[in-house]
Amino acid sequence: QELDLDIEQIEKNGYEHFMLKEIFEQTQSIKDTFRGRVVPASKELFLGGINEVIPKLVEARRILIIGCGTSWHAGMVGEYLFEEFARVPVEVEYASEFRYRNPVIYNDDIVLAISQSGETADTLAAINLAKEAGATVLGICNVVGSSIPRNTDAGVYTHAGPEIGVASTKAFTAQVTVLTMMAMLVGYRKGTLSKEEYEKHIDELACLPEKIKSILDKSEAIKELSAKYVDSTNALYLGRGYLFPVALEGALKLKEISYIHAEGYPAAEMKHGPIALIDEQMPVFVAATKDKSYEKIVSNIQEVKARKGHVIAIVTEGDTVIKGMADHVIEIPETLEALAPLLTVIPFQLISYYIAVLRGCNVDQPRNLAKSVTVE
Ligand code: G6P
Repeated sequence: QELDLDIEQIEKNGYEHFMLKEIFEQTQSIKDTFRGRVVPASKELFLGGINEVIPKLVEARRILIIGCGTSWHAGMVGEYLFEEFARVPVEVEYASEFRYRNPVIYNDDIVLAISQSGETADTLAAINLAKEAGATVLGICNVVGSSIPRNTDAGVYTHAGPEIGVASTKAFTAQVTVLTMMAMLVGYRKGTLSKEEYEKHIDELACLPEKIKSILDKSEAIKELSAKYVDSTNALYLGRGYLFPVALEGALKLKEISYIHAEGYPAAEMKHGPIALIDEQMPVFVAATKDKSYEKIVSNIQEVKARKGHVIAIVTEGDTVIKGMADHVIEIPETLEALAPLLTVIPFQLISYYIAVLRGCNVDQPRNLAKSVTVE
């Protein structure tokens, strides 16, 4: 027992919890996801594991993405990426719903299964269904040699390293990174992503580790801000476009480890329900970096403020408009719109972590949750 504890301390590498260690590892884990794949000097991308199926991806009439939990959220980002870069229709499905509703699967479909553990029972069952229907099944997994990679036609490992904290953090950013690379590669080959845009995104990918570091450097300020919301009973997370899935993931992180009821919404949907809940007790976390929908999210923030909600906004460095309206802002470096999920999710991870720790919760092993769900 004592020996186990010592080993755990060593593995935590000085961090109080695995989750915090894994959040901070993202500067490195994302580099591990890039290694041998992103070559800024020659502006090239290589994904050895799917090289042979790239022509199929280029030809694909549609892509079905399946996953559970955080992996499903990564899949939602994947939908935006593939539709934008490769102009191919994408559906994102919860593996559990997909497998039981007699889904329409064509033999020329590409099914992309996303899983950190590679062992999730529902995802595995959905894969088998897709294989029986003759679809090409690809995997994006973290655990090398796990069941999902063994049961797919081809795939890409995320290489985020072992993730111990039950709430997924570095695996999410690694999954989104792989999806970004895949969508860029397919879009470029297909001709739907211009050379200029493709190269711009490669250069920006290479800048992300530094940018993630600069967000992590703000962790003390984020901790102080988090302390103000420790006694909240509800929280709302909002985002638009690429940042809508980030809002979902932010809310999931908070509920998983702090047991505060939280919901993620596309910001414009707020008026169709959640706005009724907003009062002076309600923190509203908004991913509001500068992009196409910036003006729209500014109006959504005004709507929250008009109802006395507390707005905590993640904004692009130098933003003055939202700064003048929100209760708190967390500034993050500017990036390309399609890459923004990789940065905006980091403050949300930190906020959940600090709130949960201050509430005395067991962040690495939250009640009722398992790291890997191998039963239905
Ligand atoms: C569990 C974990 C989540 C994870 C989900 C899917 O619920 O607690 O962190 O996102 O399973 O797991 P997978 O290993 O398939 O990504």
